[in-house]
This record gives sequence, structure tokens and C-alpha cells, in this order.
Amino acid sequence: MSALFSEFKLKDVTLRNRIAVPPMCQYSAVEGVSNDWHLSHYASLGRGGAGLVIVEATAVAPEGRITPGCLGLWNDAQAAALAPVAAAIKAGGAVPGIQIGHAGRKASANLPWEGDDHIPEGDPRGWRPIAPSALAFGAHLPRTPKAMDLDDIARVRADFVAAAERARDAGFEWLELHFAHGYLGQSFFSVHANQRTDAYGGDFAGRSRFLLETLAAVRAVWPEHLPLTARFGVIEYDGRDEETLAESIALTRAFKQGGLDLLSVSVGFSFPGGQIPWGSPFLGPIAERVRREAGLPVASAWGMDAPATANRLVADQQLDLVMVGRAHLANPHWAYQAALQLKQARPSWVLPAPYAHWLASYRPGV
Ligand SMILES: Cc1cc2nc3c(=O)[nH]c(=O)nc-3n(C[C@H](O)[C@H](O)[C@H](O)COP(=O)(O)O)c2cc1C
Repeated sequence: MSALFSEFKLKDVTLRNRIAVPPMCQYSAVEGVSNDWHLSHYASLGRGGAGLVIVEATAVAPEGRITPGCLGLWNDAQAAALAPVAAAIKAGGAVPGIQIGHAGRKASANLPWEGDDHIPEGDPRGWRPIAPSALAFGAHLPRTPKAMDLDDIARVRADFVAAAERARDAGFEWLELHFAHGYLGQSFFSVHANQRTDAYGGDFAGRSRFLLETLAAVRAVWPEHLPLTARFGVIEYDGRDEETLAESIALTRAFKQGGLDLLSVSVGFSFPGGQIPWGSPFLGPIAERVRREAGLPVASAWGMDAPATANRLVADQQLDLVMVGRAHLANPHWAYQAALQLKQARPSWVLPAPYAHWLASYRPGV
């Protein structure tokens, strides 16, 4: 059997294979509440064949949404609407995961298909973002956020805890803290966004504090037998990559000490001009280094959707899980297609029985 289709066990959870659907915002919620679109979308991904489906970035507080269409978990109505989404993913044979986060200074943006830029100040659809420091992200997201005081920090940490409890009670079995992509967690760590002079800024320990405290607070309520993971941008492509990577690996070791079970290795996206080497599975060797030096299982994404590439990344022990994003929007059954391409004898470990039984001997026509 190919490495990509071997099982993966983390805590008490076993994934049927190494394929994960990473969080992908649908920007289709109203007041943070999921609806029929989310149910349909996630149900199809759950039965599509991936081992893990992670529901999109879900805000822990209203001001933590990227856009007005983002999901939330700051109230019980949102949790009640997400419970059938978790159940539908599970019914398809995938493990239901969810990413919880806070968008920080990138919050209050228009939907991607309506510009992706900040909603102008004074527009009732928007709100004032909060962030570690009163620094705007850049020309495309120009609003200057409010610098968080210590009460804000304590409140957002508590919001993460409450959202984790709601995710647990809604039936999710895999929790991902969103500490990546220039949002709040990443901003605390990044020298591009954090210019604080108190205990939450400055040196490595100061810039790590919000992330480690949030992890500890969530770990206390998230069940010990279920995976607690984080997505984190370990590199910014800003010309000081070796320094950033060394700090990121040190932080990953601290995450491990704090009870993290897996790191989803990504890019920081903390400032507009990163020189990202798109076009190859460029994060593979970087994730492998994090895995080896921090001793923690890793996942990663970005351009890993050729089945042979995905398989090699697992076989070469660069990744424990391969995240395949946009290819799953094009084809929720990407895993089944990958199984065929990798000449798996039977698709039974990919698809649920009502599909697998008939497809075991079926070969698609042309
Ligand atoms: C529509 C869309 C929404 C996304 N939303 C999120 C998100 O909610 N959280 C996150 O960490 N990454 C998000 N991403 C990034 C994806 O998780 C993934 O890293 C990216 O699509 C690269 O993988 P791919 O090359 O397989 O598509 C999003 C990407 C897309 C295309």
C-alpha cells in the first residue's frame, strides 16, 4: 500500500489515510452561523475519501472574523448549527476537525469576491480590528487596529477556551488553533506586527507568550485523548528566514511541551511583500526540518496535490499528513482519484462501503 494510504493514529483518533482537507473559508455564514451551504460542502468532503476534514477558520469572537461571512463559535446557536456539520463529516468516514482563530489586524475585510480589502471605516458592515500593536498590515488592509491592552489579551484567551469547549461539545474530534497567516496569533509572534514593549512583545519569550498561554488554556479544556494541533507560519520569506525558522522551531518545541500534538507548517504572511517560492511543494523540506528538530508530527499544504508528490512527501517522512486544499474544491473525491493513480488495489480504505463496494471493480471511462 502507498504511504499516502496508510493509517495515521494521533492520540485516540485514527485517520483512514494521510490526506487532510485543510481549513478553507467559505465566507458564506450569517452572523457566524453555518447553513445549508456548509452542510452540503463539508458532507461532500467527509465522504470524499480524505482521512481528515478541517472546518474553515472559525472566529472565537465577532471582531475576530476575517469577513462578515466567516463562521463563529462565540455563541451556542453557532455551535448548534455546526454539530450536524461535524456529524456529516464523520458519517463519510473522515475525522471532523475545526480551526478556531482570531483575525487580528486582518479582520473586517470584504469578501474575496468583493475585493478582499478592508471594509472602510464608518461602514456599518465593518468593525475596528484589534492587534498586538497599532500597526496597519499594508495598502490592501489599511485600517490601523487598536493595540490590545492586557484585558483584551485575557478576554481573547478566554474566547479561545470557550470556542474550544463549544467545538468539543459540537462533536469535533480534532482542534486546530489558527496561529498562522498574519492573523492574531501569528501577529503576536511576528516582528512585522508586534512592537510591544510589555511582557507580550520584544524578545522571543515575549512574542511567544500569547500563543503559549492560549495553548495552555485550551489544553486544559480540550479532551486529553483528542488531538490538539496548531497551524503556524514558521517562515516569512522576508530575507531573515534562518533566524525566523530557528525561533519557530524553538516555539514548536515549547508547543510540544505545552501539549500540542501536531503542527501544521505554513507561511507567516505577516507583511505584504514576502518572496514566496510558489510552484513546488516548497514547504516539504521546511516541514521536515521542523518535524526532525522539534520532534513533533507535522502536516503541510500549498501545491502538494499531485498524488505522486503527496505520496512521496509521506514516504520520505517529510510530512505525516498532506493537506490538499483547492484540488478538493475541484473534486471532493480527490482521494479516490489519487488511490486510482497510485494503483491502490481496492478503494475500500478511502471510500465508505456504499460507494466502495461498487467502485472496487469499476474503472472510470474516458
Ligand atoms: C478558499 C480558501 C480559503 C482558505 N481559508 C483558510 C482558512 O480558513 N484557514 C487557513 O489556515 N487557511 C486557509 N486557506 C489556505 C488553505 O488551507 C491551503 O493552505 C491553501 O489552499 C494551499 O493549499 P492547496 O495548494 O492545496 O490549495 C484557504 C485557501 C483557500 C483557497
